[in-house]
Amino acid sequence: MKTFQVNGQQGLSYIHVGESLSNINSYIPPGVTPVIITDENIKGLYGNKFPDGPVLTIGTGEKIKTLATVENLLKQLISLYCDRGSFILGIGGGIVTDIVGFVASIFLRGVRFGFVSTSLLSQVDASVGGKNGVNLSAFKNMVGVFNQPEFVICDLDLLKTLPKAEISNGLAEIVKHSLICDADLLAFIENNRQKALDLDRDTIFRLVADSVAIKSRVVQQDEKESGERRKLNFGHTIGHAVEKLNQDKSNKEQQVQAGHGRAVSLGMVAAALFSQKKGMLSQKDVDRITALLKGLNLPVELDYKADQIIKAASRDKKKQGSSLYFVFLECLGKARVEKISYAEMNDFITSVFT
Ligand SMILES: NC(=O)c1ccc[n+]([C@@H]2O[C@H](COP(=O)([O-])OP(=O)(O)OC[C@H]3O[C@@H](n4cnc5c(N)ncnc54)[C@H](O)[C@@H]3O)[C@@H](O)[C@H]2O)c1
Ligand SMILES: [Zn+2]
Repeated sequence: MKTFQVNGQQGLSYIHVGESLSNINSYIPPGVTPVIITDENIKGLYGNKFPDGPVLTIGTGEKIKTLATVENLLKQLISLYCDRGSFILGIGGGIVTDIVGFVASIFLRGVRFGFVSTSLLSQVDASVGGKNGVNLSAFKNMVGVFNQPEFVICDLDLLKTLPKAEISNGLAEIVKHSLICDADLLAFIENNRQKALDLDRDTIFRLVADSVAIKSRVVQQDEKESGERRKLNFGHTIGHAVEKLNQDKSNKEQQVQAGHGRAVSLGMVAAALFSQKKGMLSQKDVDRITALLKGLNLPVELDYKADQIIKAASRDKKKQGSSLYFVFLECLGKARVEKISYAEMNDFITSVFT
């Protein structure tokens, strides 16, 4: 096991990579029965391994990451007579941890909480760093707070039941971490691609531990995202637009193919091409990125038209005004954040995705 630490403004957060759900009782405050919040898939698979305590269950999918779900959970906490001394344990992927972190932060102005992170994506990204919240109307992650969980347990054995597409989704964020600040990690993924897909224990331990090391270091420097932390948004400007377009698809099968990591994969390819256009990356660098993502069963070719992407990306204008911070790659393993106008980004999108 490896433990990482984030010293947040509201307290310390410990992230334990390689710890087991079966040891959860030693992390919960003594004498306190936790309220567990999970999703229906995780409850079905691992409910019998949960610690004692009431279990509140939410549905699955980005569409349930809403204020209605939050309100529903808050009402259930009230009916359980929860008080300031309560402890909330979120067990699940990024949807569960984003929602639970928010619910725990606003219930009675904040109660103690921790996570057992069950998806690869949440272990390497979503559950670490204290960002939480929900979507509002068409706007992703529009409402939320920064607040660190007391602990995050990354139990690698839980990953064995993940659908294959979800393993690839998580690998997308690991690739992101390597591209923005760790060229050695990038080479390691390239050399251990199949082992990563097969969840080989040593390989996955290194990938999760290195990702958590990167993320916790960046968050420690800039918890509330006023500088360095913006680099973690590499691939997410266009990625979020793609994620939104994917969700709007009516076909159930297409929705299953959606997924945050898959959208980020496309967003990273677009950001790499934009970096090339700006003279930062070479064609060889871009090819290396696309080959790696393809090899991890991630999509690299957008099937949306430029005007669709531009429209979906402009939703973020609400957050940022007429310009935005776009994350470029100066070279493989080094990110550079630049403030650019929406007009410049839109010109780029039009020139590449007609
Ligand atoms: N807060 C942050 O810093 C941050 C960072 C990255 C992503 N996110 C958010 O995270 C969300 C995506 O997270 P996710 O990919 O974990 O999605 P998710 O929580 O929807 O999990 C994906 C699917 O896998 C299932 N699952 C999870 N663990 C499993 C297991 N061990 N075995 C079998 N099935 C399992 C879930 O039930 C779900 O169906 C998005 O909403 C994204 O915006 C947040
Ligand atoms: Zn992400």
